[in-house]
Amino acid sequence: MKTLGVIAQKGGAGKTTLCIHLAVRACGAGLGVLMVDIDPQGSATAWWRRRRAETPALIQSRGEVLGQVLETARQQGYDLVVVDTAPHSSHDARICAQLSDRVCIPTRPAILDLDAIGATTELVAQVGTAARIVLNSCPPATFYGVPRIVTEARQALRTYGIPVSEVAISQRAAFSHALIDGRAVTEFEHKGKAAREIDRLWQVLSEELEL
Ligand SMILES: Nc1ncnc2c1ncn2[C@@H]1O[C@H](COP(=O)(O)OP(=O)(O)O)[C@@H](O)[C@H]1O
Ligand SMILES: [Mg+2]
Repeated sequence: MKTLGVIAQKGGAGKTTLCIHLAVRACGAGLGVLMVDIDPQGSATAWWRRRRAETPALIQSRGEVLGQVLETARQQGYDLVVVDTAPHSSHDARICAQLSDRVCIPTRPAILDLDAIGATTELVAQVGTAARIVLNSCPPATFYGVPRIVTEARQALRTYGIPVSEVAISQRAAFSHALIDGRAVTEFEHKGKAAREIDRLWQVLSEELEL
């Protein structure tokens, strides 16, 4: 069993969005997936309650008992656990990073978001878990190429010493529309651009997790 922790101490970075989409994509690859929602706001849980499909499984929990939850998940035979975390809780973020095989740190490409990512990258570096930053909610590439804000964000993120995923997730209406009735973009518009981005990100992360 592998555990992917999604951490960013900034609200609105895209933690829940990435957790949901990666978990659903992993189910599509035939894996047994458990989402663990340790954000007291429970956004992933609210999405899951609207969902008709039976997978992924989801459990609401707390950072303090995450270790036990993961142990039970292992005994139950899950292949992948995806942990959604709260912003503003360095305590839970640290526990999640410690217990994860890999950490994914979403951030928007805007300067205020990039400024805020330092606390998260520092925490992950202290714990020592392999991590990857994923740019989320980026303006999509156009005929003229990758928008400047995205290339500048990549450059700015170099100072943190954590690799930035080649795959950037764009700002697309499908990412929020799909969630309304408990779906993900790979189900909502499975040949759409949003689904393709999630496919590519999943490709990279699943290889890193050796799934
Ligand atoms: N790539 C995206 N495209 C469009 N909307 C997005 C995207 N990523 C996030 N959002 C929207 O931005 C808001 C915050 O995202 P969310 O995943 O809840 O962030 P976090 O869990 O880090 O607080 C939500 O309304 C979500 O639907
Ligand atoms: Mg969230």
